[in-house]
Formats: sequence, C-alpha cells, structure tokens
Amino acid sequence: MSAERARITIFDTTLRDGEQSPGCSMNRQEKLHLAHQLDRLGVDVIEAGFPIASDGDFESVKAIAAVVRRPIIAGLARACRPDIESAWEALKEAARPRIHVFLATSDIHLQYKLRITRDQCVEQAREAIRFAKSLCDDVEFSPEDATRTDPDFLCRVLDAVVEAGATTLNIPDTVGYTIPSEFGDLITTIRQRVKGIEGVVISAHCHNDLGMAVANALAAVAAGARQVECTINGIGERAGNASLEEIVMAMRVRPDRFAYETGVVGDQIFAASQMLSEITGVPVQPNKAITGRNAFAHEAGIHQDGYLKNPLTYEIMTPQSVGVPDSKLVLGKHSGRHALSIRCEQLGYQFDRRALDDIYRRFVRLADKIKKVEDHHLLELIRDTHKPSGSATPLIEPMVAAKAAVGSVPSPEASGEPAAEPTKPFPVGPQTNAFGVPVPSDSQHEQTQQEDYLWGV
Ligand code: KIV
Ligand code: ZN
Repeated sequence: MSAERARITIFDTTLRDGEQSPGCSMNRQEKLHLAHQLDRLGVDVIEAGFPIASDGDFESVKAIAAVVRRPIIAGLARACRPDIESAWEALKEAARPRIHVFLATSDIHLQYKLRITRDQCVEQAREAIRFAKSLCDDVEFSPEDATRTDPDFLCRVLDAVVEAGATTLNIPDTVGYTIPSEFGDLITTIRQRVKGIEGVVISAHCHNDLGMAVANALAAVAAGARQVECTINGIGERAGNASLEEIVMAMRVRPDRFAYETGVVGDQIFAASQMLSEITGVPVQPNKAITGRNAFAHEAGIHQDGYLKNPLTYEIMTPQSVGVPDSKLVLGKHSGRHALSIRCEQLGYQFDRRALDDIYRRFVRLADKIKKVEDHHLLELIRDTHKPSGSATPLIEPMVAAKAAVGSVPSPEASGEPAAEPTKPFPVGPQTNAFGVPVPSDSQHEQTQQEDYLWGV
C-alpha cells in the first residue's frame, strides 16, 4: 500500500439494504453462505441484517456474528431501545460488533412519517446513541434522508450524536436525489462544521434512483468520506444502492483520479455476483458494469478485430482482475471475419481466405435471422457449407486448436456437439463486398480488414 493512498472502508450492505429489494430476501443459510463469500471478497464491514425486523433476520445476524470473524458485523436498528437491544442481542458474540442506528432528519420525514419536531428528533438521536454506546463501542449513526435535510439542522443532529459517542457518521442519500457536486459539498460542510468530526469516520450511502449512486459515492470520497456503503450487483431498495464492484474498480482502473485503497480481493468479485444471483434468483442485467455477462463480450467486428490484436483496445481492465474467466467474442451480425475465423479455429477448423469468405457470407445471413450465432449453429453451417462437392478451394483438415486464442470455447467433442464432417472442398461463389459488389477472388489481407470494418459498422 503506498503512503499517499487513503484507505477506504468498504461497508457491504447486500444482506440488509440489498435484501430489501423486491425478490431478494434470503434465509439464514443463504445469508450465511453469502457472508462467507463477502469475507473472502475482503469487505471491511458486513451489515448482516435488521434484527428487530423478523425472527429469521435476528437468527441470521446471530449466526453470521458467530462464525464470520474477520470483518466487522453490523446490525441495523431504529433509534429506539427495543431495536437497539435486539441488535445487540444478535451481535454480541461477534468478534467485532457494530450497532448501526438510524433516524430520519428531513422535514418531510419528521412531519409525515415520524410526526415529531426537530427538537424531538435531536433528543431521540442523542438518547439512542447514548444507549447503543452503553452496549457497544462501535456505533454508527445515519440521518435518514440526509440529502433532503436542512444542512444547518443536519449539522445540529450530527453534533449531538458525535457528542453521545457515535464513531461513524453515515450520510444517506436515501431517495437517490443528490448529484455528485452537491453531495461532495455536503460532505465538505459536515467536515467543516460538525464538532468533533476529526474523531469519527464519515461514510456515504447512496441510492441509485437517478443512476448516480456510484458517482455520488465517489464524490463523497473525494470530499473526505472514508467509508462507502454499497452492495454486490448494486441491489437494494427501489433502483438499488451504489454497486461495490463499480466503486472498487473505478478506484483500481483510475488511480490517477481516485487515489484510494480498499481491501477488496478483485478476483472474488465475479464469484460474489454469481452467488448472489443464484441465491436470489435475480439475474444480473446483461450490460451491468463489471459483473454483467456482456461486460467483457465483444460483438462488433471493429471491436473484435481490435480486441484480438490487443485487448487493451477495447478493455480497460482484464476479466481476470474481477474473477471473470475470460473475455467473450459474441458472434452476431456485427462480427467480422477475424473473429469468425478464430472461433472456427477454436472449434477445430481452419479455412483459407476463400473458404472463409464463403462461410462468412452464410454466417451473416444466419446472424441476421437469429441474432447470436452459437457454436452449434456454426458447426452446422460449416457442415452445410461443404456438403456440395466441386469447389476448388480446399478446406484445411479439421484441427484441434492447441490453445483457444480467445475464450475457453470447448472443442466440439468436449461440448457434446457432433464433430463436423471430414473436409470436402467448398463451393466457390462470386465474391462480393459488404455492398454486394464483386471483388477479385485474390483479395489480400488489407481488403479483409476493410470489409471487416464495413461489416462491423
Ligand atoms: O437509505 C437509507 O437511508 C438507509 C439507512 C437505514 C442507512 O438504508
Ligand atoms: Zn439505504
């Protein structure tokens, strides 16, 4: 760890805020299983649940606290005695317990939800933190809906809870309303105005209603927050929470702008994402940054060609750095000859230029119809293509690709696909370019590249 990089505490709330998203509730066994993976992932704090919410959640928090010993285990509580007692009861066997108390502070919540005055709010927060502190050294306070709270009043509440013993002040953008510049300014205001702030950690908890949760969390860090609350795959209430993997990888890929360290083990990210999706049955959106199935897939011909020459042309991090087995070249109508020939090689077939052109034309027609050309389609197409005899262009003998150049595409045998027929000559039709214009049959490499470009557009 270099001296100038500040260490950011990663507070994972997948098992609490994440679990609150529709369809994502987990039982005790499932939570325990995921908690072990979060431990392997290297998060600093696991918010294991909201113990007063149900007997099941109480038991889950208790079970996690008993066996997951490295990270801090947090439990959520409203700012009242029964909640705090229940949280402590569930957490007290943890190696490193934390009670997380929250109370709304915005006028709209005070007036319509809690029906209390600002003065009552300050007193309730103070009392709750005092009580939590009498049970546990590590106490976090969250002023719910902080970003819609009058900043003067927010600082008044924060003064009171710091004085009462809070060790972390978490600033939630509960409804995903703020924007990065505004949230950064709010963190700066808190740092300048709250008494005793030097002795506590400022944390950011951002929701994604406007799609800015990660940007807001990073803005908070830039302004001095040293803990971020986040979830795997960004799950959470409504549009979700800031995604753990996006925050961590933004810091890793852009250390020039985000000079921070975390304890996250990058190559455990994908496993955590997959495990969560498997447990909840909620799939990861395909284009989800870092963990979506398309995050390292390339379909456009230009992209595939560039990627094959040097992955850095179209990838800003390696799939391996986040535990994804490999990049994928997806064969669709935008793919070019370069990617097609490599996939054919991976399947055991090598073609000369003319044979490849022929296969390529058929492939594009097929891709137009079926969107994504899978290996079995390609093998069928190869078989069909060389059924008729009489071509002057030989198909080079099927070969077993010694090493898949891209992706880990199984051999036809390994994939259970029927092996393609032994070679027969290809029929040679008139060669045309992307616009159907005939091209000389002895076109050279440059032309292939040009056509790939055109097809790829
Ligand atoms: O979004 C929120 O305000 C919360 C708090 C309980 C921290 O989840
Ligand atoms: Zn939340």
